[in-house]
Amino acid sequence: MKYSIITGTSSGIGEAIARKLILDRQSIFCISRRLNESLTELALSVSGGLWYFETDLSELQKLPALMGEILNLTDSGNISSLTLVNNAATLDPVSAAGDYDIAALQQHFNVSLLAPLILSNEFIRLTRHLDIPKTIVNIGSGAASSPYAGWGPYCSSKAGLEMFTRTTNLEQKSVTNPVRIISVAPGIVDTPMQQKIRATSAGSFPMKERFQQLYQQNLLSRPADVAEKIAGIIDGRISCEGEIIDLRKI
Ligand SMILES: NC(=O)c1ccc[n+]([C@@H]2O[C@H](COP(=O)([O-])OP(=O)(O)OC[C@H]3O[C@@H](n4cnc5c(N)ncnc54)[C@H](OP(=O)(O)O)[C@@H]3O)[C@@H](O)[C@H]2O)c1
Repeated sequence: MKYSIITGTSSGIGEAIARKLILDRQSIFCISRRLNESLTELALSVSGGLWYFETDLSELQKLPALMGEILNLTDSGNISSLTLVNNAATLDPVSAAGDYDIAALQQHFNVSLLAPLILSNEFIRLTRHLDIPKTIVNIGSGAASSPYAGWGPYCSSKAGLEMFTRTTNLEQKSVTNPVRIISVAPGIVDTPMQQKIRATSAGSFPMKERFQQLYQQNLLSRPADVAEKIAGIIDGRISCEGEIIDLRKI
C-alpha cells in the first residue's frame, strides 16, 4: 500500500493532490483545521483509506505526536511507499516591515516554515528503518527567490523551506534508507490563496494589479493539473533534475 500524508487539504493545491492520490488508490492522511467532506466522501466512494486530522499546524508542540500517530496507523507489513507533502502555508501578514503584528508573524512562521521542518524531522526519524521509497515534497514558490513588497514573511518562509530542502537533500545522500526531498514551485494556481491576493489592498501589496491581470487573462494553472504533475514527480513518471523544481518548466 502507498501512503501519503498531505497538509492543507481543505482547499486549493492540497485538496487537489489528495483527490488525485485517492483516485490512484493510495491511503492518505489529511491535515488542516477544516474538515474537507468532499475528500472523505470521495474516499468512501472508492473504498479508499483516508484519515482526517483537523489540526492547527501552528500548535507546534502537538506535531511530533501527530506524526507518530499517523505512522502507527500504517500497516507496517504492507507499506510500499511513504510520502509527506508539506503544502499548508499562509500569506499573512501582508504588510511592509515596520508594520508587522508580532503574533501574526509568529503564526506565519509556525505554519509555513516550522511545521514543515518539524513534520519532516519526525518523518525522517521515525522511518529510518524502512527500506522503501520515501519522499518529502515541500510546496515552494517563486517568492523563495524573488522579492515582492508586502510579502516579507511569505518570501522568507519559502526561501527558508527551499534551503531546508537543499540541506536535507545533502544529508540524506550519505544515510542508509534515505528520504528523497524536493521543493516544488507550482506556478500561479487558481486557489483561495490567489483570491486572497486579488483582494489585498494595493497599499500593502503593490503587485496586486499584476495578479488581477493574470486572473482576468485566464493565465492561472488549475489545481488538478498541478496535482497531476506533482503525483507524476513523486512516483517517477515525470523525471526532473535536482531537488528544486519549477512546475512551469515541466
Ligand atoms: N496558489 C498559488 O498561486 C501558489 C503559488 C505558489 C505557491 N503556492 C503554495 O501552494 C500551497 C497551497 O496553497 P493554495 O494556493 O492551495 O492555498 P489555500 O487554498 O489557501 O490552501 C491553504 C491550505 O493550508 C491550510 N492551512 C493554513 N493554515 C493552517 C493551519 N494553521 N493549520 C493547518 N492547515 C492550515 C488551509 O487549511 P485550513 O484553513 O482548513 O486550516 C488550506 O487547506 C502553499 O504552500 C502556497 O504557498 C501557491
